[in-house]
Amino acid sequence: MNFITLDSETDFDGWRKAARALALNDVKPSNVTWRVAGDAPELFEPTAAPLEPPPGTFNVPAKFVELAEIAILHRNPERFALLYRLLWRLRSNHDLLDIATDPDVAEVAAMAKAVRREEHKMHAFVRFREVGREQTSHFVAWFEPEHHIVELAAPFFARRFADMPWSILTPDACAHWDGHAVSITPGVSQSEAPTADRLEETWRRYYASIFNPARLKVLAMHKEMPRKYWRNLPEASMIKPLIEDAGRTASAMIANPATEPHKPQKRLEPAKVNDQASEMARKHADDIETLREEAAGCRACPLWKDATQTVFGEGQQTARIMLVGEQPGDKEDLAGKPFVGPAGQMLDRALEEAGIDRRKVYVTNAVKHFKFVPRGKIRLHQKPNTPEIKACRQWYERELAAIKPDLVVAMGATAAQSVFGKITPINKNRGRPIDLDDGTRALVTVHPSYLLRLPDADAKAREYRRFVEDLKIAADALRKSARAA
Ligand code: URA
Repeated sequence: MNFITLDSETDFDGWRKAARALALNDVKPSNVTWRVAGDAPELFEPTAAPLEPPPGTFNVPAKFVELAEIAILHRNPERFALLYRLLWRLRSNHDLLDIATDPDVAEVAAMAKAVRREEHKMHAFVRFREVGREQTSHFVAWFEPEHHIVELAAPFFARRFADMPWSILTPDACAHWDGHAVSITPGVSQSEAPTADRLEETWRRYYASIFNPARLKVLAMHKEMPRKYWRNLPEASMIKPLIEDAGRTASAMIANPATEPHKPQKRLEPAKVNDQASEMARKHADDIETLREEAAGCRACPLWKDATQTVFGEGQQTARIMLVGEQPGDKEDLAGKPFVGPAGQMLDRALEEAGIDRRKVYVTNAVKHFKFVPRGKIRLHQKPNTPEIKACRQWYERELAAIKPDLVVAMGATAAQSVFGKITPINKNRGRPIDLDDGTRALVTVHPSYLLRLPDADAKAREYRRFVEDLKIAADALRKSARAA
């Protein structure tokens, strides 16, 4: 038996070096026992001299190395052995990773997925508390990760909170940022973490402001924000009262009368959007929850690096209208939901005036990560560029295939570019349903943020009316197609 001792639970380099030496010495996986320094030593034989690799080499696919680097952070104690078994088998079957049903491949892939998911949850649910004041202030958070992800997740916080010193304390390891570099120290107990500060109330007020009773889905909410994270979230104390009050608040919203439909508009020339990828997407429709999970790990463009999380679309899977915006803003990025900030409130008001029930539509964005530049404490919105829009279009296409709406409303230039697959001027095309090759129809209008930015009150009121008119045209187009069906 070969006993291998790794330096730590996350010692990928140690595992890789040992696995290489073992494989080159033809040591079968069943003849290796893996341990981590500090594990109960009585369970193991005394450490043997490390195996030296004989001359020679072998190649494994680059995607195995990427997968192993993430999967090794899983808490499963068998992971080192499982990864070595997979490596051993890859030597005789280079394409093994393509067999998704192979039990070893499936298990490693599931472990890597769970690690990525936990990384996203950590990005979203770490809450810093201020310790000390002004010159000496330091921000400290307590988090209990399910897997060994502190080192993996730390660079995100360093980019995101570059100008404040912070520490994230966990039972496994702690990460610290001094404004220059991240350092990792051993884990600590929760008693070392602060419990309350003046930011607590801000989190609670923020959460109450983005909570929309009309869109409350308790099960989905629990899935996105699992209970195990609640104990470290200041806003968690708001969840129960807000849910209890949701029925009453939503009934008041429903009691508002709907407005009359607008007169139909003439139809124009079809626009061509289809390409091979859209066709494929349409044929292989997934359900939205599956897509949401997949998109959580999207790395198709660099925007994921600085954003808190992927903000996927949400709404009814049977929705007949799909609203497409540009990209999540600051509030959406933190909440993980589209259109919950100021633009979302403007949109909610306009939809209501147009007689469209937001609970019955599907709302999404052309780009699913927040693009911004930090300016002091503010994150300044940046318009996504064409490569970012193209990289994200796969998600829009797959959402379209899953929802199969009768009408897509593209709000603003970025949304129009994604929906039509090319730059599409707003003013020339706005306010009328345009046939797409796939049988869907699209209606172009402005983005609600454009209305928020208008400095002159008269222009703002006028443009808001036009926006509502466009939404009424959308509602009317649907009524007409329902009657014709
Ligand atoms: N702007 C958008 O385009 N989408 C959002 O979700 C929020 C603001």
